[in-house]
Amino acid sequence: MVILISFSRVIVGNFYSSHSYDRVSYNADSAVCIDHTGMIQQILSKTDPNFSKIIQTAKTEDRLTFLNTNEVLLPGFIDLHIHAPQWPQTGTGLDLPLKEWLNDYTFPLEAKYANHTFAKKVYSDLVSSLLAHGTTTAVYFGTMHVSANIELARQCLNFGQRAFIGQVAMDNPFETPDYYRDSSTSSSLSATMTFIQKLTELTGPSSRLVKPIITPRFVPSCTDDLLEGLGKLAHRFDLPIQTHCSESIWEHNYAISRFHKHDTAVLDHFGLLTDKAILAHGTQLDETDLQQISNAHAAIAHCPISNIYFGDGIFTAARAHRYQIDVGLGTDIAGGFSPSLYRNIQQSIMSSRQLPNQSENHLTTANAFYLATYGGAKSLGLKTGLIKPGYWADFQIVCLPDHNDRPASDNNQLERLLYATTANDIKSVYVAGQQVI
Ligand code: GUN
Ligand code: FE
Repeated sequence: MVILISFSRVIVGNFYSSHSYDRVSYNADSAVCIDHTGMIQQILSKTDPNFSKIIQTAKTEDRLTFLNTNEVLLPGFIDLHIHAPQWPQTGTGLDLPLKEWLNDYTFPLEAKYANHTFAKKVYSDLVSSLLAHGTTTAVYFGTMHVSANIELARQCLNFGQRAFIGQVAMDNPFETPDYYRDSSTSSSLSATMTFIQKLTELTGPSSRLVKPIITPRFVPSCTDDLLEGLGKLAHRFDLPIQTHCSESIWEHNYAISRFHKHDTAVLDHFGLLTDKAILAHGTQLDETDLQQISNAHAAIAHCPISNIYFGDGIFTAARAHRYQIDVGLGTDIAGGFSPSLYRNIQQSIMSSRQLPNQSENHLTTANAFYLATYGGAKSLGLKTGLIKPGYWADFQIVCLPDHNDRPASDNNQLERLLYATTANDIKSVYVAGQQVI
């Protein structure tokens, strides 16, 4: 067998990757070989007859990254729900109910992104900060400003972060302020079209890094015509969709009073519940909603920190998993105060410990790690989140906590790492095989 095809990089060391929802596998002394497109081409164990040869070749060509014994390779995390413009508002107004928080803090801040200079400053800081926290893919809500959203895309390309970016659509005069609303349904739809077109011009038609996502803010902020128009656009261009769904009691009841239906059914009615839809929060979803989401093969972004403040309940991720719904984790900046998926992994486990029926509903370390990695990737139909041939080389190299009394192969070591890691412990980050941190 010929093995000496050339690699763009070979990373040698120990790694963790989800084996399944319930199990994380530990691989010691492995050579992860990345091809020239940025995908994992093959993974060799130390016992493989070609192991030394490949390492030697990579070393000679200066393409070798050798992990220290106190370092471990992990898949990069996927932030399945984050509001880019809310970065300057992180940790602010979290003692208010959702509707007041939106009106008093969020909408006034988002309106400022009409200023391109402001957008550029915030977005470059946000994208670099997320990468430094190990987030290699982010699914962003932008604002209603096309040029600011394009600037966010530029920053993602610039820093090398994988991203979906949404032009936020909101035209309902009864639920949005005068100063921050699309001036009409048709202008909202044409802003989304313009954004998609400009993004495609920026990235090229088959961009693998940055892509558009159809983004009705949530049911209250959109008229029926807008919801219908966005559903049609998503179908016409075969695009993913993101929105908030049954996030809080107020939002859940709003849909019931306007449509006599739950959010899920409303979204379905307007063609927005597809196999490419990411529904954020879902704390108020009932069994009928979950079955409908499962039937549609839509996914849910679980935002455990944000839900503590605004969700009026805990999203039972384990129950959604029983319905075979794909679930990932979202920071929901700035409903959540932390840009770190580590912090959200911790909170997902902590919150699940408050649920009834612990034996069925608590999340294990392996479950939460899966949600932050492959759960998010699968929700997006992306080949990332696993360290496995055929997947993108989206990685983080993390220093193990000191005074760790567990053997490397022990899952308790991963648990300890997930509770201890801060951005300072993340030594480097790769997206599609390129070092970005
Ligand atoms: N619902 C509508 N807009 C928002 C938002 O910006 N954040 C959260 N958490 N919920 C929302
Ligand atoms: Fe949100």
